[in-house]
Amino acid sequence: MNMRKAVAAGSATLSYQGKSYELPTYAGTEGPHVLDIRKLYGEADVFTYDPGFTSTASCESDITFIDGERGVLLYRGYSIDDLAEHSNFLEVCYLLLYGKLPDRAQMDCFDKSITRHTMVHEQLASFFHGFRRDAHPMAIMCGVVGALSAFYHDSTDINDPRQREIASHRLIAKIPTIAAMAYKYSMGQPFVYPLNNLGYTENFLRMTFAVPAEDYKVNPVLAKALDTIFTLHADHEQNASTSTVRLAGSSGANPFACIAAGIACLWGPAHGGANEAALKMLEEIGTTGRIPEYIKRAKDPNDNFRLMGFGHRVYKNYDPRAKAMQAQAHAVFDELGIHDEPLLKVALELERIALQDDYFVSKKLYPNIDFYSGITLRALGFPTSMFTALFALARTVGWIAQWMEMIEDPDQKIGRPRQLYTGAKRRDYLPIEAR
Ligand code: CMC
Repeated sequence: MNMRKAVAAGSATLSYQGKSYELPTYAGTEGPHVLDIRKLYGEADVFTYDPGFTSTASCESDITFIDGERGVLLYRGYSIDDLAEHSNFLEVCYLLLYGKLPDRAQMDCFDKSITRHTMVHEQLASFFHGFRRDAHPMAIMCGVVGALSAFYHDSTDINDPRQREIASHRLIAKIPTIAAMAYKYSMGQPFVYPLNNLGYTENFLRMTFAVPAEDYKVNPVLAKALDTIFTLHADHEQNASTSTVRLAGSSGANPFACIAAGIACLWGPAHGGANEAALKMLEEIGTTGRIPEYIKRAKDPNDNFRLMGFGHRVYKNYDPRAKAMQAQAHAVFDELGIHDEPLLKVALELERIALQDDYFVSKKLYPNIDFYSGITLRALGFPTSMFTALFALARTVGWIAQWMEMIEDPDQKIGRPRQLYTGAKRRDYLPIEAR
């Protein structure tokens, strides 16, 4: 059976009901091999069972690699630490979309295209006015991003590679404008239009925090911190929202609708909402003196309290994104002259104590990206309701790169999982009087 790039790596034998089945195995460039079960149902009349997909590779992908045991995250082969330190978000967008780092001319051209697409159709502003003022920014983002397909008809033909490319540039360019508009609307402040002489993240900061009554100067240290946060969140392999985008796209839905589906999935507290929970926990702990009490609670099997921002489904080592995140937290606090921020102290001390504690060490529970991102975003001036919207902004490029890869995959077919049915067997309908 065809694979795009994976190579054959022998086979495995499955015995089932007295018969043997040969399952081909394939190797990628890194990570575990896969057992190819595509013919299994047809040949053996049996499904595989894997709720939560913990042992299932849903696709072949060249984009992002995670080694959870070693704490490694690569975008197109480049390590996240390297990118966080030396690259910038827009270059990372190019890398994720096109598979390689751009040369100067390619970068200039990409930058120009993204910059030229940052404005949204003027009529889209009326959409915002239809929402209640207290609407959650993610509710607004789901609606408005989905509505983009009603405005940009010339980039919804998924079979035309040029239209796909234009849609991807539009989404990357317009998502900061939409996120900033969602924020402005909730504050009762006028929308601020993008400025073409500013960089991607600077522009977003200005659209979010500038007001017509006062000039807004972007602080380069804070802009660098936010830009790095975007880089750290840009893609993360086949997580729940990315899989949602792929599944929505597998039916041929247009890219704007698919990204709106991804935003809806990201909104859940088990996915995009954990940084808010980590910030709340640090606030609740309040002082370093109370840390032992919370550590004790986290270890108590009869208490459902967990250290938020600790542990990860895939990383069984220090989340590589958390290191860069911690560095940015320090940079932001130093720049703002907040040397005594109690929450940062609590976070550092909590991390120190937990990393020496047998419970956390033996269960391989390390800080994840969310441990430091909440306190950093708050210091940057964002209300907690915007945290997930910022995540969505950054992840849009990952979603769109994964969507493009799926559409270009000749093996792509509509996603259609099966089930283990445990409901009633066939029974006869009874008229209401006879029940
Ligand atoms: N505090 C205390 N104990 C924990 C924690 C924690 N944060 N996380 C896991 N454990 C314990 C858990 O009680 C279990 O113990 P036992 O084996 O005795 O039953 C063991 O560690 C394994 O936990 P699990 O829930 O089976 O592990 P999982 O891989 O299913 O869960 C997790 C991963 C992220 C849901 C979990 O670690 C957690 O709830 N962490 C706190 C929430 C959080 O920070 N979430 C953000 C994740 S990063 C977001 C992203 O990458 O998008």
